[in-house]
Amino acid sequence: MVSTNNERLAQLKAFDETKTGVKGLVDAGISTVPPIFIHQHNGPPPSKTLNTTISLPTIDLSGIDTNLTRRTETIKSVQEAIDTWGFFQVVNHGIPQSVLDDMLKGVKRFFEDDDEIKKGYYTRDYTKKMIYNSNFDLYSGPATCWRDTFLCVFAPSPPNLDHDLPTSCREILMEYSNQVMKLGKTLFELFSEILGLKPSYLNDIHCSEGLQVLGHYYPACPQPELTMGSPQHADYDFLTILLQDHIGGLQIRHDGQWFDVPPTPGALVINVGDLLQLITNDKFKSVDHRVLANSIGPRISVASFFTTGYHPTTRVYGPIKELVSESDPPRYRKTSVEEYANFFKSKGLDGTSALQHFRL
Ligand code: OGA
Ligand code: NI
Repeated sequence: MVSTNNERLAQLKAFDETKTGVKGLVDAGISTVPPIFIHQHNGPPPSKTLNTTISLPTIDLSGIDTNLTRRTETIKSVQEAIDTWGFFQVVNHGIPQSVLDDMLKGVKRFFEDDDEIKKGYYTRDYTKKMIYNSNFDLYSGPATCWRDTFLCVFAPSPPNLDHDLPTSCREILMEYSNQVMKLGKTLFELFSEILGLKPSYLNDIHCSEGLQVLGHYYPACPQPELTMGSPQHADYDFLTILLQDHIGGLQIRHDGQWFDVPPTPGALVINVGDLLQLITNDKFKSVDHRVLANSIGPRISVASFFTTGYHPTTRVYGPIKELVSESDPPRYRKTSVEEYANFFKSKGLDGTSALQHFRL
């Protein structure tokens, strides 16, 4: 076993040192999936053909700031969607289609830029503003995924356009992140109201203080049946806003079954993260999801995580006092966002819930 582990570690290191990620392997013309990417720990990867497609509840956000009836109806639909799925889509969310299109193109440009330029951003140092690598849990997760990622930190402090961000996508990253921040704040207002709190509550306790924008690049895979784009996981943030391209592959878990979330042009996929489940004392659920590997690609997605992540902070979060009572006592211990992020990363995407570790 030891020699197998050593062998795997050596292969992981060799892969990491190329600094060109999964895309580098595909560019080099590999026709089989290298052993480090083969997923076996939870049985073989799921088959692509047996899945059920759902249309996620699609919520129209138009008029919610000007029309009280619309706002009340919208809040009701969001509440239903959260209770049922933990996921929903929004349309008329205020972000122009051109910004969505340009953001996807910007991510593609970054990954398809010269290797030498990309390598300048390749790091596992999460104190940086722009972090490009493949598999954040490369050394802690049980199997490597068919995916490369950059993570860009926009809040609590913004990056410097010239010094921190790549020319391939810096303007659109700035534009998109500003718009996503606005949308996130609106969603936190709706969530606060659903919880019976004043609209500004979740923003006031700094749920929207941190924003990381992740660009994912899922290259075409020669043997998609052996690996995953992203394994089963829940998100480690308060809230995620996901922009996906037209290719598909995202699945969510519901009633013990996996459902395809087919791409809807113009829509953004919203999901509750672990930290929101923790502070709402399970009133909102952070639902497991995954991405299948695909022989077609690249697939591009942009995941915006509302969290201060690894950024050091002294702020502590536990179940919100208005949401607990004698008959419904706190189910989680207090933690900081940083502690949560570090635990999540050290555990890696092994298919188990990070939240359980914080349960009382
Ligand atoms: C994530 C995630 C899904 C996707 O970044 O946590 O689940 O479609 N992404 O890329
Ligand atoms: Ni996720």
